[in-house]
Amino acid sequence: MSMDIGIYNKFKDLVYEKAGIHLGDQKQALVAARVSKRLRELNLSDYREYLKYLREDKTEGELVHLLDAISTNVTSFFRESVHFDFLQEKMKVWLGQGQRRFRFWSAASSSGEEPYTMAMVLKEATAGYNVDMRILATDISTRILARAEEGFYPAEKASAVPSNLLNKYFEKTETEKGHGYRVSKNLRDMILFKRLNLSKPPFPMKGPMDAVFCRNVMIYFDNDVRRRLLSEVQRLLKNDGYLFVGHAESLAGQLCTLANVKPSIYVK
Ligand SMILES: C[S@@+](CC[C@H](N)C(=O)[O-])C[C@H]1O[C@@H](n2cnc3c(N)ncnc32)[C@H](O)[C@@H]1O
Repeated sequence: MSMDIGIYNKFKDLVYEKAGIHLGDQKQALVAARVSKRLRELNLSDYREYLKYLREDKTEGELVHLLDAISTNVTSFFRESVHFDFLQEKMKVWLGQGQRRFRFWSAASSSGEEPYTMAMVLKEATAGYNVDMRILATDISTRILARAEEGFYPAEKASAVPSNLLNKYFEKTETEKGHGYRVSKNLRDMILFKRLNLSKPPFPMKGPMDAVFCRNVMIYFDNDVRRRLLSEVQRLLKNDGYLFVGHAESLAGQLCTLANVKPSIYVK
């Protein structure tokens, strides 16, 4: 079913209003295809009816469907691994200074590879120390969060985890989904998964946080949404706390008081 520009603009406005996601005009064909599929599944007759359905859905479950269909949840274990090397080094410094309480945030955690990588790196860095350490992992998509919380990964995805860590922090399992690995309970227990819409500050957290991973999500936002998000990140970080953004993202040109220490790494 073709989608005229007037209807497409209504989808664009709705997605921006609800999730801060700026859809470019080049996404029109993709949105039309994905939404048409959803219309068939829901037995709705046209796009207008679907827009109404979306607006009336107070649980935002349908919005999650739409966002999952038009944005990407792509992620992987140890993605952009220099960030994790950096974090490991920083942990040595903080432990050396006597710090024992640590709080971290994975701000767009997708299917969980990012916060679980953080958890492994942090556990390794603090081995032998008695620490109080927690990670908050958030995403707008309740569907992807449920997968993250379950912590099951097919063998192919888990292969990005070094084998010593895979043996230590995962259990081999066979499920109806096939052969794979489940994150061990003690790693899962370090992480609290919660739904959070990054485009709707202020956020309920108080901080202070030692490091925030906000990677590969700001690309979807325009400068207004980014500015509001960054101001919350700055509020939540402790002094000498770090923000990691995706390698393709930069805070250049943003009104931001964080200092750039390396490409894609910022300090308060
Ligand atoms: C490409 S993934 C990034 C995953 C991980 N941070 C990484 O770098 O590998 C983008 C994630 O951002 C989430 N997302 C999109 N808009 C969001 C919003 N307004 N608030 C919170 N999360 C959002 C998506 O659901 C998706 O899981």
